[in-house]
Amino acid sequence: MPLIDSFGRKVNYLRLSITDRCNLRCSYCMPSDGVAKLHHQDILSYEELFQIARAAVALGVEKIRVTGGEPLVRKGVVDFLRRLATLPGLRELALTTNGILLEKMASELRQAGVSRLNISLDSLQPETFARITRLGDVQQVVRGIEAAEAASLPIKINMVVMRGVNDAEITDFAALTLQRAHAVRFIEYMPAVPNPQTASLAFPGAEILARIGEHFRFEPIGKDRLAGPAKNYRIAGALGTLGIITPISNHFCGDCNRIRVTSTGRARSCLFSNHELDLRPLLQAGDAAGLRQALRACISSKGDMHSVSWQESGALENFAMVAVGG
Ligand code: GTP
Ligand code: 5AD
Ligand code: SF4
Repeated sequence: MPLIDSFGRKVNYLRLSITDRCNLRCSYCMPSDGVAKLHHQDILSYEELFQIARAAVALGVEKIRVTGGEPLVRKGVVDFLRRLATLPGLRELALTTNGILLEKMASELRQAGVSRLNISLDSLQPETFARITRLGDVQQVVRGIEAAEAASLPIKINMVVMRGVNDAEITDFAALTLQRAHAVRFIEYMPAVPNPQTASLAFPGAEILARIGEHFRFEPIGKDRLAGPAKNYRIAGALGTLGIITPISNHFCGDCNRIRVTSTGRARSCLFSNHELDLRPLLQAGDAAGLRQALRACISSKGDMHSVSWQESGALENFAMVAVGG
């Protein structure tokens, strides 16, 4: 029986964060002084994460996206993914990664049963990339993308567009789709980190499309049944596609099909909801029926829409992007 929330939305997508650790420090995700690391004992074991995934799939979830922090920094991730891939009823096992460790890991991820990768890449310019990520080397990500291509993993590239930081590269990113069969997605900056400059970083999706339209002709295209929030387009004759994700200027809450579970075992009904349900006691008690019931309750508690705007400049209550996984 499909999982339907109280607004009639079908929920079939679980975003599962397996760690709060990351090997980058992106400015839109973490404050400059970092975030307090969780203690090892507060993070769910792979066995516990698997119990959650199994309960979700038993309830009708068809797609799991593993996130972080950076999921590939957690030891044992490939074996965990291999186990997830065996869940009967799971149609898609996806991963969102910053790509830093992909060069080494792409081929084993494919063999483990990962069906697709979303790779965060906000700039192709080494200095801009290093400034956004506070320490990253863009060439490592580029090599990671090449390794994923060589392993035949379908790729989506996520660019968070920030005015005055990387918006001059919108056209370069769009042009990537001419030669490569990737989905390049432009994401509106969300005010996840306290920042007095939030309003000036904002770059609405409509303006992104207008910028691309100054250089290319493109047409809207459809999306897969299990797809996330992007609206998709294709430049005439391009191998790849463009996607625009507009959480702020034109939120997609009406089509929301997902819940999230943090690496500490808290089920969250909306990225920005500060209502979380602690699954840990149920996991510790081995209460599989209780776990399924809690996930149902999380789905029932989904609100109709978020209310975050670009006027936000302080900290959002009870929210850390690195713990929720985007
Ligand atoms: P696919 O369609 O499977 O590729 O998934 P996705 O686009 O949901 O995954 P990804 O992890 O690449 O997320 C892309 C961007 O969309 C990130 O910036 C996420 O934070 C954002 N996003 C995903 N789901 C939601 C949501 O429910 N609400 C909001 N506000 N943003 C979301
Ligand atoms: N605004 C928009 N996107 C964000 N992501 C992380 N933080 C933000 C933010 N503040 C994106 C990352 C990654 C995905 C999981 O979420 O770039 O691609
Ligand atoms: Fe790490 Fe992703 Fe956050 Fe960047 S956005 S710091 S890569 S978790």
